[in-house]
Amino acid sequence: MKATSQTEIHSYLQENRIFSPPDAFSANAQISSMEEYRALYDRSIRDPEEFWSQIAEQLHWFRRWENTLVWDPPFAQWFVGGQTNLAYNCLDRHLLTARRNKAALIWEGENGESRTLTYFELHREVCKLANVLTDLGVKHGYRVGIYLPLIPEAVISMLACARIGAVHSVVFGGFSAEALRERMNDAAATVIITADGGWRRGGVIALKQSVDEAATGIPSLRHIIVVKRLDHAAPHSWVEGRDHWWHRLLAVASAQHDAPPLDAEHPLFILYTSGTTGKPKGIVHTTGGYMTQSYLTTKWIFDIRDTDTFWCTAEVGWVTGHSYVVYGPLLNGATTFMYEGAPMHPAPDRWWSLIDRWGINILYTAPTAIRAFMRQGDSYPAKHQLASLRLLGTVGEPINPEAWMWYHQHIGRERCPIVDTWWQTETGAILISPLPGAVPTKPGSATLPFFGIVPDVVNRDGESLPAGEGGFLVLRSPWPAMLRTIHRDAERYAKQYWSDIPGCYFTGDGARRDADGYFWLMGRVDDVINVAGHRLGTAEIESALVSHPQVAEAAVVGRPDELKGTAIAAFVTLEAGTKPSQLLKQELRDHVAHEIGSIARPEDIRFAETLPKTRSGKIMRRLLRDLAAGQETVGDTTTLEDLSVLACLREDEET
Ligand code: PRX
Repeated sequence: MKATSQTEIHSYLQENRIFSPPDAFSANAQISSMEEYRALYDRSIRDPEEFWSQIAEQLHWFRRWENTLVWDPPFAQWFVGGQTNLAYNCLDRHLLTARRNKAALIWEGENGESRTLTYFELHREVCKLANVLTDLGVKHGYRVGIYLPLIPEAVISMLACARIGAVHSVVFGGFSAEALRERMNDAAATVIITADGGWRRGGVIALKQSVDEAATGIPSLRHIIVVKRLDHAAPHSWVEGRDHWWHRLLAVASAQHDAPPLDAEHPLFILYTSGTTGKPKGIVHTTGGYMTQSYLTTKWIFDIRDTDTFWCTAEVGWVTGHSYVVYGPLLNGATTFMYEGAPMHPAPDRWWSLIDRWGINILYTAPTAIRAFMRQGDSYPAKHQLASLRLLGTVGEPINPEAWMWYHQHIGRERCPIVDTWWQTETGAILISPLPGAVPTKPGSATLPFFGIVPDVVNRDGESLPAGEGGFLVLRSPWPAMLRTIHRDAERYAKQYWSDIPGCYFTGDGARRDADGYFWLMGRVDDVINVAGHRLGTAEIESALVSHPQVAEAAVVGRPDELKGTAIAAFVTLEAGTKPSQLLKQELRDHVAHEIGSIARPEDIRFAETLPKTRSGKIMRRLLRDLAAGQETVGDTTTLEDLSVLACLREDEET
C-alpha cells in the first residue's frame, strides 16, 4: 500500500480495521475500550486528587501524604507531608520480588561491547555511588552535574543522586564547555560526574576536557568524578584532590546504603532547557509527583509489563531520557535498553539489528530519526525480523503522514500500535497521547489527554476555540509531574508560563482540536525552535552569533526542513568594514557550535545590510521566516542583501 495523504491513511486504517479497539492488538492491561477511557478520564478530572492518590498508593511511601494537592497558583505541591525515595521505588522495591535477578538495564556501546545490570547489580552500584557522593561531602539538596555519554554510569549517577536527595542536573554530552559552564554555574554544582571521553560516530568527544575548561568558571565546584570510558583518553588535565577516577572510588565503597525518606516536594532534578531569552531555564522537578506520573504514563501509555524490554532512544541529557529511559521503566520493573551510538552508526541497520539481538518490545523515538531511516531505504529494516516489537512511540514533534506510514509498515510490520506522545521538559511526563487498546490513533495527532490532564485550545484571552480553529495550547489545571519553578527565578516561572493566557499554563505550542476532540500540534508559537526534536532558543543562538567580533547584529529563525523538521537560519549584519565571505559563514557556524554545541550550528547564514525592522524597531521575524523558507534560490550568495525594501513592503503585515 502506498498512501501518503492523511485521508488515504485514515481510510487504509479503517479498511484494515487497524487501531479500532479492542480487536486490533493486545489489549491494554488497564484500559481496554474508549468507553472505559472516557469514564475514567471524566472521573480523573472531576476529582484529580482521588485519581492521583490511588496511583501513588501503588508505590512505596515511608510516610503517607496529608494533602494530595496544595494549589496556590501558579505554585503546586503534590502529596504534601508524604515521604518517599525515588531510587528506592526504582530498585529496592523490586529486590524482594522475582525481578531481583532480571535485567534492569541492558546497554550496548557504539563499538559493540555490551553490559547487562540486573536489578540486584544496579542497586549495588547505585548504593556504592551514593556512599561515594556522601563521603565527598554531597548533602541533601546539593546539586550534582552529570555530563556523560549514554553509558550505564549515567543511570547509576542519576539514581545515586535521587537516593541521597542530591539534585541532579544532567547536561547533554553534545553541549559545549561554555554551555556546561553556564548551566553548572546557575545550578551551583559542587560535583560533576563525567568521563574521559565518549564515542560518537567513530570519533571521540573530549568530555573531561570540556569540564576542565568549564571548571574555572564554576566557583562552587569541588570534585570531578571521571568514568574511564576510553583506552586512550583525549588529553585532559588532572587536579589532585579535585579529580577522582570513578572506578577507584567505587572499588572501595560499601554497597550497603539505606535510602533515606525524602519529602514528596524535595527537588529531584534541574534540567536546563531553552526559552525565549538567551539564558537557558533551569526547570525544577520534585520527587513524589514526578515519580507517580512517570510511573503511570509508562505503565498505561506504553502498556508496559515487567517482561518488556523498553528502548527509548533519547539521551539522558533530555527530559525524555529522564522519564522514559530511567525512571518510568525502572519504576515499572521493566528492562530499559540503551545504545550509546548515533542511529546510523556504525551501520545503517544497527538499530534494527539491536532490536532483533536484544528482543526489544517497545521502541520510542523521534520522527526526525524515522525520516532519516526512511531516506536510507526499506532494505535495511527488511533484513531483520523485528518480531519482538509490540508497540512503537514517537515524541518531540508532530509526525508527518509519510513517516508515520513508513514506521507503521516497515518497523511495526502493520501490527504494532503507534503512540504519538505530546509533552515537554516542563510537564515531566506525557500529557497527550493515544492509549493502545483504548484510544484509537489518527496519524499526526497526539490524540486525547491523559488522565487528570485538562488541555485546551484558546485565543489570547483564554477563551476556548471551537473545533477546527487553531490557537494556543494551554493546560487548565495542575498535574503531579509539572515543573515547580525555574531554579532561582520564581518570577520568571510565573511570568513565562502563567501570565500570557489568563489562569492557564501556556505551553508555547500552537494546536487545534478536531471534531472528535483530538489534538493536532502545530509547532511552537514563541521564539523557540525544534531542530530534530531538540529544543533551541533563537535568542541563545543570536547571542552566540553576536559574541563573534565581526558580527554586529543577528536574527535567527527556523525554516522547514524535510529531515530535521526545522533547520536554523541566521540573518547576520556584519561590523562595518567586514567583508562577507563563504569562509566567514563557515567560521560563524563553527563559532555557534563552539559556544553552544553542534546541535545549534546554523544550516544557513545570510548576510544582510540591515535587518528588517518595524518602525518601532522590532525585527520582522515573520518576513525573515518567509525569506528563510524560500532559501534555495539565494542561499549561497555571499553578497549583502538589502532587506530594507522588503521590510517597507511588509510592514503592515507585521504590526
Ligand atoms: O513543541 C512541542 C514539541 O516539543 C516541545 C517540547 O520540547 P522539549 O521540552 O525539548 O521536550 C521534548 C520531549 C518531550 C513541545 O513544546 N513536541 C513534543 N512532543 C510533541 C511535540 N510536538 C508535536 N507532537 C508531539 N508529540
